[in-house]
Amino acid sequence: MRIPLTATIAFKALQQHHTETKDRQVRDLFAQDPARFAKLSTEGAGLFLDYSKNIVDDKTMTLLYALARDTQVEALRDDMFAGKEVNRTEHRAVLHTALRKPRNEKLMLDNKDIVPDIQAVLDQMGVFAERVRSGEWRGFDGREITDIVNIGIGGSYLGPKMTCQALRSFAHPRLITHFVSNVDGHDLDAILSRVNPATTLFIIASKSFHTEETMMNAQSARAWFLKHASEADLAKHFVAVSTNLDAVKAFGIAPENMFPFWDWVGGRYSVWSAIGLALVLSIGIEHFKEFLAGAHAMDQHFQDAPLEKNLPVILALIGIWNRNFIGSTSISIAPYHQDLRLFPGYLQQLEMESNGKSTQVDGTKVEVATCPVIWGDVGTNGQHAYFQLLHQGTDIMAVDFIAALTPSHTMKEHQVLLLANCFAQSEAFMRGKNADEVRADMQAQGLPAAEIEKLLPHRIFRGNRPSNTILMDALTPSTLGALIALYEHKVFVQGAIWGINSFDQWGVELGKILAKNIQAELSNQTKPETHDSSTNGLIARAKTALQNKQ
Ligand code: F6P
Repeated sequence: MRIPLTATIAFKALQQHHTETKDRQVRDLFAQDPARFAKLSTEGAGLFLDYSKNIVDDKTMTLLYALARDTQVEALRDDMFAGKEVNRTEHRAVLHTALRKPRNEKLMLDNKDIVPDIQAVLDQMGVFAERVRSGEWRGFDGREITDIVNIGIGGSYLGPKMTCQALRSFAHPRLITHFVSNVDGHDLDAILSRVNPATTLFIIASKSFHTEETMMNAQSARAWFLKHASEADLAKHFVAVSTNLDAVKAFGIAPENMFPFWDWVGGRYSVWSAIGLALVLSIGIEHFKEFLAGAHAMDQHFQDAPLEKNLPVILALIGIWNRNFIGSTSISIAPYHQDLRLFPGYLQQLEMESNGKSTQVDGTKVEVATCPVIWGDVGTNGQHAYFQLLHQGTDIMAVDFIAALTPSHTMKEHQVLLLANCFAQSEAFMRGKNADEVRADMQAQGLPAAEIEKLLPHRIFRGNRPSNTILMDALTPSTLGALIALYEHKVFVQGAIWGINSFDQWGVELGKILAKNIQAELSNQTKPETHDSSTNGLIARAKTALQNKQ
């Protein structure tokens, strides 16, 4: 059995350190140490990380590095990269990192080098994408493809959609990518009402090819298509991405139109696999290879850089400090780049499906808080919506600011204002504004003394709100790849420290099973089950409404 985290020397030392330093103000730490920014920032794989605005000092960091060492983070990392069975509850290796390995490298799994198979699928994707992009691949009436509809959910949706949006400035001008995910028919209906069956290519993306929502959407899309074309035309308009060849064949998609991947790629880590096909179609195979190379550069940094300079390790340790010692219950992801607007949603699955757990790998209960809530939106929009709570609310919530220094547009004044806001927010979160400063401001404005004293408590910012800032020169396939891999490895390090398996997701199963029962009851295929009175009441109301609609 693993030593409980709270019993480790490093964790106890951190608790003691927190007790001794809990009243310190980061603005004072900046005043005391002019080298603070230089000391508490680092870079790698094209990304720069400033973590100096967190409530930490050199000693905090030293103790956090000791925690990482005590919990065997480096050994576990090496096991993952080597293809050992890191996902122990599903008896699988965890090898999304192999998908971004250069062609000339090797990786043995079960006595077989898996790199040639990975590269063969990459080539298959490249050839197919080039045929579609060049206009050689035609629809059933001879016209070029104009619309790609990716049908998938979870990792088979969030990754391709977020990356297509993030890299839209690299997109093929003729091809519009659409993403259908929700079983709510409004999602599919909204897309089908906009596309032409003769010029639309559907990608059915599902690792298992069993996921209810995806299968229902795929069947409905197929039925819609067949109202306009014949069965023989399907091959020109439907391709699949999956690990399940038999289910793909049963759906009616020929093996040559299937892009495979492997069970050692977790759904939320699958954008690097054939699940990235929509992205390849959009930006082309060469840009996709740059995306993989950016992630690979982060993999190498994660493996080679000392812990004290290691971006994923530092981001993870700062997260542990904020979560387990400062008591931050959430991280707001604030990309100051419109094209990264889907990144917070992508990270929700990556972090919360990976580390939203309370049982350790050895079956015992986790004793400390694990994954915080991940949420957010682009700056500056968030500033005019929920930043008030981040500045003056009762809870301390950490923020990750993400910005690209140079934009892909030419409106320089927009970029200046955007970056000014990004840096100003992190400064405000850290510094706050104390009573003396607020009073001096109001006196300078000539407000009467009584009014000043009345307003004073409302206008004080306590500050000391932790944040990281991640900068890249520009948002490119390569920096996006590095950014995603940074967070993947952050999740890994935190999972290792909390002692949990970041690569299973048993928690999503119960609702799926119950939904199947209720689906049968709603469609009158089975007699009503005895649920609790709330669930029975809701089912009864829905049945009445559905019957009235028939
Ligand atoms: O239900 C959760 C989940 O298993 C995710 O982990 C996964 O990304 C998603 O469903 C979709 O699964 P699939 O690609 O097999 O359709």
